[in-house]
Amino acid sequence: MSAKIISGKLLSQKLNSSLKNSIDQIKGIRAPKLTILQIGDNPASNKYIKHKLKSCKNVGIDCDHIKLDQNTTESELEKIIIDLNKNNKVDGVLVQLPLPNQINEKIIKNLIDPKKDADGFNPITLGNVLLDDTEIYPATPLGIIKLLESENINLAGANVTIIGRSNIVGKPLASILINKSATVTICNTKTKNLAKVCKNADILISAAGSANLVTKKFVNKRMTVIDVGSNFVNGKYCGDVDYDKVKKIVKYITPVPGGVGPMTIACLLENVFKLYLNNIK
Ligand code: GUN
Repeated sequence: MSAKIISGKLLSQKLNSSLKNSIDQIKGIRAPKLTILQIGDNPASNKYIKHKLKSCKNVGIDCDHIKLDQNTTESELEKIIIDLNKNNKVDGVLVQLPLPNQINEKIIKNLIDPKKDADGFNPITLGNVLLDDTEIYPATPLGIIKLLESENINLAGANVTIIGRSNIVGKPLASILINKSATVTICNTKTKNLAKVCKNADILISAAGSANLVTKKFVNKRMTVIDVGSNFVNGKYCGDVDYDKVKKIVKYITPVPGGVGPMTIACLLENVFKLYLNNIK
């Protein structure tokens, strides 16, 4: 038996179309507006931003892309963010990561007003995620939850193992799952006996950024596997999971591409819409 494939492409299309309807219904008021700040010309960032711009356009979000020179200083970027924070016509601000070395990412994440925090990376937003007291969630963890819920996969009481302890995926995802009464184990690539720790999970989520990390040894036949990896191997885009072999064993699996990636963008757009609704109140 082969696993059921959970398509983030299809689910994100449904979410985007429902968001477009909601935006269309608010007639007479301006469109929601997102500003994306990019510093430098990182090829992966160029690709991600292209997708974000296209998706914004499709649902009716007005999106400005400000591309700054690689040598932009921290204080120059700070000034732009402070102006955007004050600009009432801008609902969401997103600073594309990674940033060049001269700019301190922590300072920038702190500076974006939580009321405009489209990515959900501000420590205040993340604190509220931990406390289960927020409307805005980082987009990738929220997308993963929506993928699981779309298949009615039980979270309460489930043993969920996450590989990856990043601030933008692993940690907020663990908080959301804990708040939904899952039993969560967070590993990383240095975890001893990683395959053994993962093997008995009901849900295995890999956000390690390491191609072919998750092999047959990591999985069982009851398992749902969510692949958050975004890797290039010999010019080919792939996740963290040895997909062809693992999908023959497990119950559910997400593909790469077409799994978590499009859900991240759909949830980002939902965040912008929520920020907009609060802003125009
Ligand atoms: N770089 C890679 N993924 C992301 C993301 O979700 N948001 C931002 N701002 N930068 C990224």
